[in-house]
Amino acid sequence: MNNETLLKMAYEATERSYAPYSKFKVGAALLTEEGKVFTGCNIECASFGGTNCAERTAIFKAISEGYNKFVKIAVVSAGEIFTYPCGICRQVLNEFAPDIDIVLDDHGDVKVINLKEMLPYSFGPSDLR
Ligand code: THU
Repeated sequence: MNNETLLKMAYEATERSYAPYSKFKVGAALLTEEGKVFTGCNIECASFGGTNCAERTAIFKAISEGYNKFVKIAVVSAGEIFTYPCGICRQVLNEFAPDIDIVLDDHGDVKVINLKEMLPYSFGPSDLR
């Protein structure tokens, strides 16, 4: 699947975002090795710590449905500015897909960054073996 299609699905997911507090609507679309796409949006909570980011919504959906091999993830926000995954999401992506490509968009300017570049010197599963 090309980056444009994946980005479009991520933008569609922003429409399902529940962000009454920050008003910052985020969407993600995660492509599995099998070619299946799991989308996610941020879901906020009045007790702020309960908030879940779009990327983690997508990855948790996939893992819970039995998919655990990932190729790339598109991450966008409704304002169409570059929206980089937060630290917690980078760590969760590293858990399941340390080599994943992250596809970002700013009004049609598309950037692809590998997670290894975004999270260098990471701590991960192999450190606990
Ligand atoms: N957010 C995401 O969904 N993904 C990120 O990687 C950055 C932050 C959400 C969390 C919260 O609902 C809102 O953006 C503002 O932080």
